[in-house]
Amino acid sequence: MRTQEEIFQAKIDAEIKIEPKDWMPEKYRKTLIRQISQHAHSEIVGMLPEGNWLTRAPNLRRKVALLAKVQDEAGHGLYLYSAAETLGAERDQLTRDLLSGKAKYSSIFNYPTLTWADIGAIGWLVDGAAIMNQVMLCRTSYGPYARAMVRICKEESFHQRQGYEIMLTLANGTPEQKEMAQDALNRWWWPSLMMFGPSDKESTNTAQSVKWKIKRKTNDELRQQFVDISVEQAEFLDLKIPDPQLKWNKKTNHYDFGPIDWDEFWSVVKGNGPCNKQRLKDRNKAYDEGTWVREAAMAYAEKQDAKKEKAA
Ligand code: 3HC
Repeated sequence: MRTQEEIFQAKIDAEIKIEPKDWMPEKYRKTLIRQISQHAHSEIVGMLPEGNWLTRAPNLRRKVALLAKVQDEAGHGLYLYSAAETLGAERDQLTRDLLSGKAKYSSIFNYPTLTWADIGAIGWLVDGAAIMNQVMLCRTSYGPYARAMVRICKEESFHQRQGYEIMLTLANGTPEQKEMAQDALNRWWWPSLMMFGPSDKESTNTAQSVKWKIKRKTNDELRQQFVDISVEQAEFLDLKIPDPQLKWNKKTNHYDFGPIDWDEFWSVVKGNGPCNKQRLKDRNKAYDEGTWVREAAMAYAEKQDAKKEKAA
């Protein structure tokens, strides 16, 4: 007689999606809530660095595109919090964990956006890296997460294209504009590689997540895929990737690249990045200032419920 774990793993191996009402190992549920909630927090916090440039966009077209992107990110956060709730997570608790600094979100959002070119580099590299990861997650074993990814990836492609177009405009602009684009690439390249997580040998979750098909590719595999694609995109921009060890390897058919500064990575993950404190402060301020919206929405919902009860 097969155990529940064996039946569960057989479903995973047979590519049967796991749905909210299906039996699942507690550890599967827990790691999904961990990953999906961090993903959702990343979407919400990710709006902050870009929000900084909404009032400074160089023209109306750029402003409209950036506004649309920032609004999309809020929607991505909502889909993902909803996906986490299907696993029994409480959205209020997830929010409290973020606001208190207890919850993780992607390290990348703890870096400053110093010039307009940073908005281009974020779209090109950060959303590009996110797409690399999220296209893979469209095939994740948990149904609601996979379905949320399909919609998110469609919007991320626009985010990446608008960012790359900003970089192309600057790279083909005046020498000062090209220098601004190169400076942004210099500052965002390595933190973008860190987005994929620690190396496979350091990763505490990857092996099990691959077995459960939460992840279809490992951190290093996705990182390598991202480097290979980005090198050619940088060449098209005539910008130089800040890695003297970057070199095409004929044997592996991939680009070899230099060592990642994992001390920097873990320092940022642990809350000591350039903007961690600012991001949390801004997020708490936004939450406090939004209290009236939440209260009004709850009051309206209670009124509607009372009306339905009366009518019943
Ligand atoms: N930033 C912060 N923490 C990170 C991290 C990063 N870039 N990479 C890894 N970590 C943390 C993990 O959360 C884990 O800590 P925990 O066990 O306390 O949660 C620890 O470091 C070890 O890492 P693992 O590789 O073992 O962890 P995972 O198996 O969870 O892999 C991941 C990390 C690849 C980021 C995976 O969680 C994932 O694919 N998440 C979904 C995608 C996501 O969250 N992307 C973030 C960016 S979203 C975004 O960019 C929005 C876009 O619109 C711009």
